[in-house]
Amino acid sequence: MGVEHRTGGSATAVAHPNIALIKYWGKRDEQLLLPRTDSLSMTLDIFPTTTRVRLVPEAEHDEVSLGGAPLEGEARRRVVAFLDLVRERAGSDRRAVVETENTVPTGAGLASSASGFAALAMAAAAAYGLDQDATALSRLARRGSGSASRSIFGDFAIWHAGTDEDGDLGSYAEPVPVDVGELDPALVIAVVNAGPKAVSSREAMRRTVDTSPLYEPWAVSSKDDLADMREALRRADLEAVGEIAERNALGMHATMLAARPAVRYLSAPTLTVLDSVLQLRRDGVPAYATMDAGPNVKVLCRRADAERVAGVVRGAVPGGAVHIAGPGPGARLLDEGGR
Ligand code: DP6
Repeated sequence: MGVEHRTGGSATAVAHPNIALIKYWGKRDEQLLLPRTDSLSMTLDIFPTTTRVRLVPEAEHDEVSLGGAPLEGEARRRVVAFLDLVRERAGSDRRAVVETENTVPTGAGLASSASGFAALAMAAAAAYGLDQDATALSRLARRGSGSASRSIFGDFAIWHAGTDEDGDLGSYAEPVPVDVGELDPALVIAVVNAGPKAVSSREAMRRTVDTSPLYEPWAVSSKDDLADMREALRRADLEAVGEIAERNALGMHATMLAARPAVRYLSAPTLTVLDSVLQLRRDGVPAYATMDAGPNVKVLCRRADAERVAGVVRGAVPGGAVHIAGPGPGARLLDEGGR
């Protein structure tokens, strides 16, 4: 337990959400959160999550809060299970106080679990004195939520599914070298509904793998999408990146629509935004849509076109909020002053 003293048993980390351009959809191991396919994402420069983990020697239970309110139920259970994993590795039985501040609507398909578990992994590892490099932190964050493995890194990251022989060790994210200045990407985020989703992505993923006749074909084609995406990123070819991201996301939603019973996250306002993205393209603006486990749409475009794209999208969903994000930083520890 001596190592905990190095950090004084307290650490704060900040992490940003990421949006997958090649999606993670489907697990091959529900316990270890091992995915069936590789995925690739862009980390955002907005909506950070800040998490403080403080060990409390005398406490009998973990205390977990989000935005100042105690977390309950499944959300709390996932955080405590994650702390148990860190404690097991650190050889510690100390309970902790975990305080999280999210700047993104939670559970609305805006990747709050990615930034959340990336920040928690980094803060908990430091508070319990685990010495982890970025790869190990990515693997650890994966155990909280698969997509969190990618939020350890800034800009573009690929999460390797790994092989059955390598198990836990083979499945982690790492940076993808991209000339970000040349690509000059932005994601315009149209929040058509900020409420929590009806079916969790975890349940939807399971149901899709178990029952959708379209799942296997998508998983196979996603391999080609990934190879094409890496090549398009290498060339900093925004049009190609956008086309591949859009087809991969629409394919993922097709797998869910074919699940039994169907999972449908796309709503009428989602389709209205998709129509406006098509219209932008007809008008000569390279803009491409991607959607996750919710009705909100993220539109990939050039930074230089982002205001125009945001204006068109705003017009398509009156009352919906629209945000512009660029490539953001990887997760990092803050000092005691919160910097
Ligand atoms: C549609 O990472 O939230 O956003 O591993 O079960 O916690 P769990 O799932 P999660 O799923 C994200 C799915 C997605 C696509 C993606 O981010 O790649």
